[in-house]
Amino acid sequence: MARVPTGIPGFDELIEGGFIENDVILLTGGPGAGKSTFGSQYLYSGITQYNEPGVYVTFEETPARIMRNMWRYGWDMERLIKENKLRIIRADPIAYGRYIKKTLEPDKHDHDNATLETVLKQIYASVKEINAKRLFIDSLTSLKISPDPVDVRHIILEFVKNIESFDCTTLITSEANMNPDHFSVEEYLAEGVICLKVNRIAGERIRSLEILKMRGVKHDEVLRPYVITDKGIIVYSSDSVIGKEADVFSLQRSSILGE
Ligand SMILES: Nc1ncnc2c1ncn2[C@@H]1O[C@H](COP(=O)(O)OP(=O)(O)OP(=O)(O)O)[C@@H](O)[C@H]1O
Ligand SMILES: [Mg+2]
Repeated sequence: MARVPTGIPGFDELIEGGFIENDVILLTGGPGAGKSTFGSQYLYSGITQYNEPGVYVTFEETPARIMRNMWRYGWDMERLIKENKLRIIRADPIAYGRYIKKTLEPDKHDHDNATLETVLKQIYASVKEINAKRLFIDSLTSLKISPDPVDVRHIILEFVKNIESFDCTTLITSEANMNPDHFSVEEYLAEGVICLKVNRIAGERIRSLEILKMRGVKHDEVLRPYVITDKGIIVYSSDSVIGKEADVFSLQRSSILGE
């Protein structure tokens, strides 16, 4: 099976070298956990190290803001766009508004299906335009507009099933689950789930990563520390964060602090 390395230092060895080609992988985490950074690094490394064009789909931030933030890591997204190796597309905010409308006008379902279709067509057109192999979608939570859980489930299922047919290895972000015992539809649906966690230990911020599942892959099961640096994310794949109940209380980090 062909593997797709993320190019994130320390990460690929946790999953036998990379994602399985054309899988849809979910990346969850709280605010500031590093989801957008992880996804951008996945696309940036894909283009610069593996010559695989990528599409970045944003539901919230503007492409200009994304480019500005990524520039801080030294990633020149603008150049890659000019070279037709990268596209950053903002999912149609009008379609987005119509999801809200759907909750007010439940009799207009046909209309709303058409808008989900519009978003998918927009993504697919960009994928085909540059022959993208990697897709990053930030974030799925933006589609969860309806207060009706059945509607939400339907939209997420429809969205993910369509994305699966795009012949891209896809990373999709979603907000972290507030209830650790309850899993959302996308966590069951995706081939893999990566969780980014942020804890505070003795006044210090400790970031750790867990691979919850990765179908068909003999993946790492240990909570691994990661850091966000001026050059992006680095995972310490041979160190561990030892957790007790919900609280992380101890960290073995020989390589982080050189202890
Ligand atoms: N150069 C840097 N060095 C260290 N940490 C940085 C650097 N740049 C950004 N960060 C950290 O990365 C965080 C932002 O990461 P990112 O935007 O990828 O998170 P996110 O999970 O996408 O957040 P959100 O849920 O708000 O979209 C910042 O809050 C900051 O803590
Ligand atoms: Mg983000």
